[in-house]
Amino acid sequence: MNISVKIDEATTVTTEMLVCFGYEQEKAWSQAIRSLDKQLGGQLNDIRKNGEFSGKANQTTLLHINGKLSAKRILLVGLGKRETMTLERIRQAMGTAAKRANQIKAKGMACVMPDVPKPISRLDHVAQAMAEGAILGDYQFTEYRTDRSEDRNTLQSCTVLAPTSASQTTVKAGAKRGHVLGEATCFVRDLCNHPANVMKPSRIVAEAKAIAKESKVGLKVLDRPHMQKLGMGGLLGVAQGSIEPPHFIILEYSGGPKAQRPVVLVGKTVTFDSGGISLKPSENMEHMKADMTGGAEVLAAIRSASRLKLPLNVIGLLPVTENMPGGRATKPGDILTMLSGKTVEVQNTDAEGRLILADGLAYASRLKPECVIDVATLTGAAIVALGAHAIGMLGNNDPLKKAMKQAGNDSGERVWEMPLWDEYFEQLKSDVADMRNIGGRGGGMITAAMFLSKFAGDYPWVHLDIASTDWSTGEKPCIAKGPTGTGTRLLIQYLINHANGS
Ligand code: BES
Ligand code: MN
Ligand code: ZN
Repeated sequence: MNISVKIDEATTVTTEMLVCFGYEQEKAWSQAIRSLDKQLGGQLNDIRKNGEFSGKANQTTLLHINGKLSAKRILLVGLGKRETMTLERIRQAMGTAAKRANQIKAKGMACVMPDVPKPISRLDHVAQAMAEGAILGDYQFTEYRTDRSEDRNTLQSCTVLAPTSASQTTVKAGAKRGHVLGEATCFVRDLCNHPANVMKPSRIVAEAKAIAKESKVGLKVLDRPHMQKLGMGGLLGVAQGSIEPPHFIILEYSGGPKAQRPVVLVGKTVTFDSGGISLKPSENMEHMKADMTGGAEVLAAIRSASRLKLPLNVIGLLPVTENMPGGRATKPGDILTMLSGKTVEVQNTDAEGRLILADGLAYASRLKPECVIDVATLTGAAIVALGAHAIGMLGNNDPLKKAMKQAGNDSGERVWEMPLWDEYFEQLKSDVADMRNIGGRGGGMITAAMFLSKFAGDYPWVHLDIASTDWSTGEKPCIAKGPTGTGTRLLIQYLINHANGS
């Protein structure tokens, strides 16, 4: 979608659909809309008074203007109550507007910036949220449809109306960020929506190559012989049961000074998780085509860091494989020697994510990182613990965890911390190896992170378990059914904040 910023008044802008926002439980419209209403002879006031539009979050009312304005239609969108206003409400209101635009087959919409209360009143933040919301709400995956042209989205452009020419630069900067972050999430959703017979390990490599070319970032891809030489027993062990060869992708964005230590992102990239010999039940197994979300998010983050020209060095690591029950597959009881040298008894081949991430985390040590963030659809236990509204976070460094919480609140992709206490390691003890790869009944998200912590080096590290937020069973203003791409904007917002020195 084309996102632009224009200094124009609601009263004069030419558009198919003019989007205006209103708060709940307030009779008066904001300044910009009041002058608009004058021209409409008080029509908007009437709609308020007679209760047709209450301003409840994501409520909409569509008006046809019939020549009284340069705008063809006005869409009123509710923001909810002013006292509890957040940037997320702006995203959702914009997502709602984008969906409405598509319903009426509009190609473009222009949006008045909502007036927002103090704590979130920075114009660039508002503009960023607006752009993100429009792009996220507009998202559709139609690649494999041959008969649905009627349902295709029509919306192509969203114009943000800057209130004054003085504010234009600020609003533009915000809208640009929002554009990049919104598209990053859609990129991840696309990768996750593609079925596993298309989005194979080799296709992930092709996607990484495309990013390397577009973004001028360095790319190295390790093949099986190379992994064998290094001793990546975790990744190799998981890949054994598949006929698709594994890859270890290293993408390097250098936007900072040479001497600056890199932020390293590690993403679980299992292009299909059947469970392996510990086969999953067939119900919903198709969701496991999205078990590569973590890797896709790391690709998106590197691409966005480059698009935003962030003054940072960022390295993405993707252990890529299928988890299949082929004739050579790892069997329960098998012992793997990992890249770090530690040995692991594989008691359940479905706990594969931690095996490949362990090698990623061990590899990260060689890069002398400033910090390491791994992101993974790691455990069903994350869904049980947190439901669909929080990403599980565990880590070994308080400042890094704090920064991640901040990025979560800024992006609306919020994290919730779980404990990583030594006691939990008891559950991972093995009779025959250094540890086993499952931790028994309780605290599944925690024991998985505990396992990873044994492979994280001597660096600040945070683990994000995105299994909770990864798949949506319903449609929401900014979330389509299926893969959500949640975590993408969290990662990039963290990088943006970090580049700003916070
Ligand atoms: N990819 C799954 C986790 C998952 C489950 C993600 C549901 C999204 C939705 C992971 O590889 C897995 O299978 N984890 C097991 C671990 C268990 C065997 C200790 C799980 O959570 O059941
Ligand atoms: Mn699994
Ligand atoms: Zn998995």
